[in-house]
Amino acid sequence: MFKKILLMLSLVSSMAMASKEEFIGSGKGYNGDIKVKVSVEDKKISDIEVIKHEESGFTRRAMKKISDEILSSQSLDVDNIAGATYTSEGLKEAVGKAIASSGVVLNKGVKKVAQTEELKDMETDIVVVGGGGAGLSAAIAAKENGARVILLEKMPMVGGNTNYATGGINAADTSVQKKLGIEDSAELYYNDTMKGGKNLNNPTLLKKLTEESKHAIDWLISKGTDLTEVSFSGGQSVKRIHRPTGGKAVGPVIVDALNTTLENMGVETRTNNKVVKILTENNKVTGVLVENNGKEYKINAKAVVMATGGFGANAEMVAENNPNLKGFGTTNNPAITGEGIKLVQEAGGDVVDMKEIQTHPTVVHKTPNMITESVRGEGAILVNRDGKRFINELETRDVVSKAELAQKGKSAFLIFDQQTRDNLSAINGYVNKGLTKEANSLSELSKMIGVNSKELEKTVARYNKFVKDGKDTDFNKKGLPREILKAPFYAIEVSPAIHHTMGGIRINENAEVLDKNGNRVPGLYAAGEITGGVHGGNRIGGNAVTDIIVFGKIAGENAAKDIKK
Ligand code: FUM
Repeated sequence: MFKKILLMLSLVSSMAMASKEEFIGSGKGYNGDIKVKVSVEDKKISDIEVIKHEESGFTRRAMKKISDEILSSQSLDVDNIAGATYTSEGLKEAVGKAIASSGVVLNKGVKKVAQTEELKDMETDIVVVGGGGAGLSAAIAAKENGARVILLEKMPMVGGNTNYATGGINAADTSVQKKLGIEDSAELYYNDTMKGGKNLNNPTLLKKLTEESKHAIDWLISKGTDLTEVSFSGGQSVKRIHRPTGGKAVGPVIVDALNTTLENMGVETRTNNKVVKILTENNKVTGVLVENNGKEYKINAKAVVMATGGFGANAEMVAENNPNLKGFGTTNNPAITGEGIKLVQEAGGDVVDMKEIQTHPTVVHKTPNMITESVRGEGAILVNRDGKRFINELETRDVVSKAELAQKGKSAFLIFDQQTRDNLSAINGYVNKGLTKEANSLSELSKMIGVNSKELEKTVARYNKFVKDGKDTDFNKKGLPREILKAPFYAIEVSPAIHHTMGGIRINENAEVLDKNGNRVPGLYAAGEITGGVHGGNRIGGNAVTDIIVFGKIAGENAAKDIKK
């Protein structure tokens, strides 16, 4: 009898073991290959484990999200995560390859993850709307100041446009600059920014931004952000743009650090929850109406912080506000559609500078892929089809964009060498995505891109001499870190695309929303790209990240203090 039971048990266990199998597959992610182990039971995917990858920051969370969606839907037709398209595609490719011969029968068509719980009306102290850098900073600061906080994000993941930020964060007189022996001051930073903004910046907001910038750097570092390097960006008179070690993209690093902080503080974040109305009573804000999974519910709150970003991905709104920019592409996250601005207007807030919209000059021609300004800061030049430089590569973005559009073909070529790549790891992502052309000599490279070969060689030789002399007598480019010398040589065809909307909600230095008469809309705060006035007529590269951290933090702190009154 005992022997029979043992035999049955071993049969059951070997049947169970036989029905679970594991398969390995790999796909191409943003920074390199993604390798997965997929478990299959009864012809269904029962587990997905990412066993090797080189993805960074929030894209790691994107892999988890996509894996969960594949599991719950038993389909590979799940939506990519905005801002992590390559990672999403790479993960799906890896799973697809792993299960190719597994016998798994997949569902066809996108299946959304089921909403487990119906959301009911509720109450809190402060609602923060938008989970980009400004919203995350506001939520942390409000919680640190004793408030109960809920963060709402309309997309499936937090991060917004901050996930796309690459170059770095500007700040003056910082602990990091001091360590590196860079002399700078809030006043110099103010003057550079005011000049770059064509003297249209709101002086009070700009003073706040520049004076608070050094505290923003220390605050980010205290939350676990790696910021050890400082470099040049367009329109700066000293090295001021702070970035992670090795020149990694700054945005995902910040989002990761702030989101982890928020989670550790126990702040509730509701993704896929979109605010459709700011609620008011007697002109005072009383909460928000939220849409989730086709149903609406209310969150009553004593204050609301709007941090939903600008409108750079809303081509219609861009053209409405600045008809000259009709038809331009965009570098923005598809979520950046400006409806937050309209909600604030409906609640009584005013707008400023709406026509001030920035193009970024180095966006891969006819695509949304921005090539960070830091590539030029680390040694790249811009040439036209004749192989000639035509502008100081580190002029402000409006100036470089205009100069590019004046060249034949309305585009230009970024040219750099292996040394620049070695000093800026963000470039690895561009190479992996296939955005670069690469050759072992300048003459070979020039043929690949259709640029005059003799002239390109002459241009590079002349530029290298400027680097040696420490002075660019043609265009006065500041920051000549290295010659273009070491093969392989790289080229990327670039042209301008919509990058930042400088206009938006009118606020004061306390991040309080103001109405047409300059009075507060009680209980309403705004921070980041949804606001206008900080950057005037042209934003300096690296100042958007400063803006979201400085004013996000101010909005959260003031909202929390205000509700105690
Ligand atoms: O070029 C860049 O890395 C962009 C930076 C910014 O818009 O601040």
